Amino acid sequence: MSEAPAVTIEAITKRYGRTLALDAVSFEVRRGELFALLGPNGAGKTTLLHILCTILRADSGVATTNGVDVAKDPLGARRNIGVVFQEPSLDDRLTVWENLNFHGLVYGVPAAIRSKRIDDMLAIVELSDWRDKLVRTLSSGMKRRLEIARALVHESRLLFLDEPTVGLDAQSRDRMWRYIHRLREERGLTVVVTTHYIEEVENCDRVCVIDHGKVLAIDSPQTLKAQHGQQLLRLVPRDDATRAEILAAYPDRIVRDRDELVLKSDGDAFVESLFGKFGLRIRRLAVEDPSLESVFLTLTGRELRDQAASARDLTYEFGKRGGEHTK
Ligand SMILES: Nc1ncnc2c1ncn2[C@@H]1O[C@H](COP(=O)(O)OP(=O)(O)O)[C@@H](O)[C@H]1O
Ligand SMILES: [Mg+2]
Repeated sequence: MSEAPAVTIEAITKRYGRTLALDAVSFEVRRGELFALLGPNGAGKTTLLHILCTILRADSGVATTNGVDVAKDPLGARRNIGVVFQEPSLDDRLTVWENLNFHGLVYGVPAAIRSKRIDDMLAIVELSDWRDKLVRTLSSGMKRRLEIARALVHESRLLFLDEPTVGLDAQSRDRMWRYIHRLREERGLTVVVTTHYIEEVENCDRVCVIDHGKVLAIDSPQTLKAQHGQQLLRLVPRDDATRAEILAAYPDRIVRDRDELVLKSDGDAFVESLFGKFGLRIRRLAVEDPSLESVFLTLTGRELRDQAASARDLTYEFGKRGGEHTK
């Protein structure tokens, strides 16, 4: 039993009426792994987590956590998992300590262990000084951290975090990830985290890319990039005629045609040949090395992040009249 993977999922399917939320999803999470479930809104991440946490039943398929079948023995399965839900679920009218203690009581953690573990957890998420404050006086980042602490007051070896960084500012997001890494290292936890922020999964052990209830790929960020990554060229043509000519010249390379044209590139030679042909008829040109964003794009034909890329390696801006470019 102790050798069972932290999570096994075999052909889990779940429908809500006509919506197929999960379509025969299968994968395993190894013990001690920091595992990310990455996908856009509506991909099925929360549904899958709810099934693993025994809140929801799958229509078909089998899932286990710590070797326990979640459908056959939900209580047994719950004992060793901690969950931080997408929706905040703290009691605002209680203090920090009371929230943790209540959770420990519900899970039947003996008083002496409970009090020690609450102290430990508050220290890890740096909320010790806030133990007697009412939860409603905490910032949203602190509340998120408190929810993590709460998830670990009982005997959890497996921690599920559903979009733990949504609604947090950049600094709190970084901090949240520091705690997640620390918990994994110091307590040997297995962590399964969902997110739709692609830049957050770079430091996870493995990433499962999920879309429309289907698993598209599972691997380490490095391997995903090597196998499905793609150098991309983002450019803005100066006028519609140029756009039309570029579209006609490289039909197989076009990934996206909106304000910005996105083309598959494969190195300097292509960039040079394109620039040789169109030169100053291009207003802006950026070369982007294979990123997880390009992995998602290759797998789904869509971009997860609809905004401009942040990971630009080279951006050339061409003046409206002059030909000079600035890096
Ligand atoms: N309670 C529900 N009733 C009906 N449809 C739902 C319900 N919960 C989720 N869905 C649908 O199932 C799909 C997956 O949703 P969800 O698991 O919440 O995805 P994610 O967490 O990746 O955003 C979506 O199409 C969503 O609209
Ligand atoms: Mg969700």
